[in-house]
Amino acid sequence: MSRTSCSVQEPGGFLPARHSANVLTSGMRITQARNVRGKVRVPGDKSISHRAAIIGSIAEGVTVISNFGTNADCASTLACLSKLGIRIEREGTILRIFGPGKDGLSAPSDVLDCGNSGTTARLLAGVLAGQTFASTIAGDASLSSRPMNRIIRPLQEMGAVIGSPTGTLPLAIEGKRPLAPIDHRLPVASAQVKSCVLLAGLFTEGTTSVSEPPSESPGPVSRDHTEQMLKAFGAEVTESDAAVGGGSEHTISIGGGSTLEGGMIEVPGDISSAAFLIAAAAGLESSSLQIEDVGLNPTRTAVIEVFGMMGASIEVEEHRSVGGEPLGRISVSGGLERVPGTIVLDESVIANVIDELPVLAVLATLLESGIEVRDASELRRKESDRIAAVVANLKRMGADVEEYDDGFRIGRSDLKGAAVNSFGDHRIAMAFAVAGLFAEGETVIEGAECADVSFPGFFGVLENIVS
Ligand code: S3P
Repeated sequence: MSRTSCSVQEPGGFLPARHSANVLTSGMRITQARNVRGKVRVPGDKSISHRAAIIGSIAEGVTVISNFGTNADCASTLACLSKLGIRIEREGTILRIFGPGKDGLSAPSDVLDCGNSGTTARLLAGVLAGQTFASTIAGDASLSSRPMNRIIRPLQEMGAVIGSPTGTLPLAIEGKRPLAPIDHRLPVASAQVKSCVLLAGLFTEGTTSVSEPPSESPGPVSRDHTEQMLKAFGAEVTESDAAVGGGSEHTISIGGGSTLEGGMIEVPGDISSAAFLIAAAAGLESSSLQIEDVGLNPTRTAVIEVFGMMGASIEVEEHRSVGGEPLGRISVSGGLERVPGTIVLDESVIANVIDELPVLAVLATLLESGIEVRDASELRRKESDRIAAVVANLKRMGADVEEYDDGFRIGRSDLKGAAVNSFGDHRIAMAFAVAGLFAEGETVIEGAECADVSFPGFFGVLENIVS
């Protein structure tokens, strides 16, 4: 990796801040590596941090959040909450949110800018739908092209008046109190949409329920941090599973009479950020990497199972649980054991590895028979079209890739360094940093600075552990 002049931010861990990286002008340069070795931490989980800040802002009393995500997306959430009149004090990664209760938000004098963050936009929309004032949610060019009808429709059904002729941001929300409770069936598994409707459900006088698309086994289909946190704050939340067809349908219900009480939250390290480092270690023989205090919520750990299916040697030790969220240490020994046949990831697992698919695709270039990803058309609706981005960048690196409407097939490939693009998408930037470590020669990632959206200091951490 090149060493030039721009300092990058540490996530706070065991590593000395001795690195520097060039992300400003001509793109991030990555060269082939032998291994990654060390003991690191990753920043606080982005999904949990958003929820802690938002739920803390409608709770009564002070919520103290430690290890709050230092990323740009969570900063967007805090900026919006401040505009809604919430007092927030911050000391490093510790946040004190002075929650005024469910009725305590004030009308913003300005548009609420969610930046690049879909979670900010969709979760806040649920809260804003139940307010007695009007507000407007906007975002950057990428977020403004992402589908919002999936939240507009249920919120309209609950009685909110939402203006968006195109079904995208900006959304002008005319709140209503009380909202009408609904039973909503999610057409696509989405934690953001589920959370939006559950949060709006707090502003009804009845019980609102959200059912996830049927799956093979009981339990939540998408990440369940909102349900867990609302329970920890004292909301009346129940979960149930019903047999449908040959499978199971998971439903979460919330009582509109719930009041929330502020408390202490410790945010675990972000497993989706850890996934980039795990992939680098697994793909480079003689690596040895430990990642401390990583969130191990079962709705997020499928990626560890998939790494295992790919032949990676990973040990997970769960240490404790905070606010219903388990956390522990992940240890990786470098090298992939040979696995027979092509690994197929389909509907049964996609929702649980949705954010890790780009880096899994990169690691798959080292597998004898590659990987096939299907039922993942949601990837086209993320911060970039991640199917197109993965396929374009891997092709530039000489990989054997086939694009499908709903996924891709990646065959075993000797990657060659090339000029690739982040497409303005943090997870694409980081996935291709890992690809650069595997590739012969030099890889240059244009627009790599967007890694800050979820993992500020990523390139610095990598530089410290790579040889
Ligand atoms: C998130 C849910 C997922 C995920 C995103 C974070 C969340 O999105 O891709 O990075 O925090 O709820 P969808 O709900 O759109 O699947």
